[in-house]
Amino acid sequence: MTDTERTTREIVGRDEINDLEEILMLGPPPVDEIIREIQADGAIRFTWDYEQARPALQKLYSKAKRSQWDAATDIDWSQDVDPERIGRGLLETHPELLLYQQRSKDDRTLPLYGWSDAQFLQLAIEYQTQFLSQIVHGEQGALLCTAKICEQVPWIEAKYYASTQVMDEARHVEVFSRYLDTKLRGHHPISGHLLSLLEDVLGDSRWDITYLGMQIMIEGLALASFGFLHAITPDPLLKTVLRYVMGDEARHVAFGVLSLAEAYEGMSAAEIRERQEFAFEAGLRMRDRTFNQEFWVRLGVDPRAQLRWQLHNLDTALFGGMLFSKVVPNVKKLGLLDAGDGWLRQKYTEMGIIQFEHWVDTTEEYEALDTTGAPS
Ligand SMILES: [Fe+2]
Ligand SMILES: [Fe+2]
Repeated sequence: MTDTERTTREIVGRDEINDLEEILMLGPPPVDEIIREIQADGAIRFTWDYEQARPALQKLYSKAKRSQWDAATDIDWSQDVDPERIGRGLLETHPELLLYQQRSKDDRTLPLYGWSDAQFLQLAIEYQTQFLSQIVHGEQGALLCTAKICEQVPWIEAKYYASTQVMDEARHVEVFSRYLDTKLRGHHPISGHLLSLLEDVLGDSRWDITYLGMQIMIEGLALASFGFLHAITPDPLLKTVLRYVMGDEARHVAFGVLSLAEAYEGMSAAEIRERQEFAFEAGLRMRDRTFNQEFWVRLGVDPRAQLRWQLHNLDTALFGGMLFSKVVPNVKKLGLLDAGDGWLRQKYTEMGIIQFEHWVDTTEEYEALDTTGAPS
């Protein structure tokens, strides 16, 4: 390590990435908080160059304009949703929940040891609410990030595209909050880990860091989890909502990959290293978010004991790492995995997510996910 390289503590605030106490320290905001202010840095940019010289972004912009949908009228909100049916469905299909049930029968170290079927059903319903709650907050983060990108990115084609994404994200906040408030039991507060990441992404003065944090990391993870939930949810209304949103999200991730590929071309090795460090920090915060510490507290489970178990069973806690199946290929496509001495490859190996590097990247699949026409 050279004098200029940052330590793990300097990057993520702790020496050991699996330090249980440090992970637990980052809790949600105060329960009575309604507004959170973030001080953002960075220049707002006009460009006087209106010539469009980026055909891939122009194509994406055209597609975005054609693929707009209306959350109020394109979705049949009259459908009833049965939370218990959702819970039972997840208990039969969700690998993390399945393993909790199976192992808690004979693993006395698992805090859920001895739980009844009724308790597991409540857990599954709460699990769905917790997941969708974090999605709502993340979608609002995406709304703010793309407004910021629109202001700060220096290219006219990217400003055009970002403006369509602002509308997309408003619709996503609308659709998921409506689902939670009218079909489930309302939403839970944002995770401290997700909030911390969003504060970093929104507060950074470098426009490409907003892209990297939102379009590549957060939206990449969201796209994978939406695809996963779309495949297993027994609720037709949620399935329709997810299919619409996935078409938008795939474009958003492609927007990030296309823009950053150009931005990184002109960067020095030191600047690329900073982006690698950020991709590590963001990945770790997203992983820590998925441990769901507030959720376990709400269920009356000791979060310390639960987190200890999850850290020893990382393959289970992260749906077998599937959540990162779209993040790692896109980070690789951008050259961040192996730049310099392959530092990020090493970090992703420690986090247990490197196995997804050969999966398809989103610039190659976003058209297949488009929902123009009838989603199913
Ligand atoms: Fe979104
Ligand atoms: Fe998005």
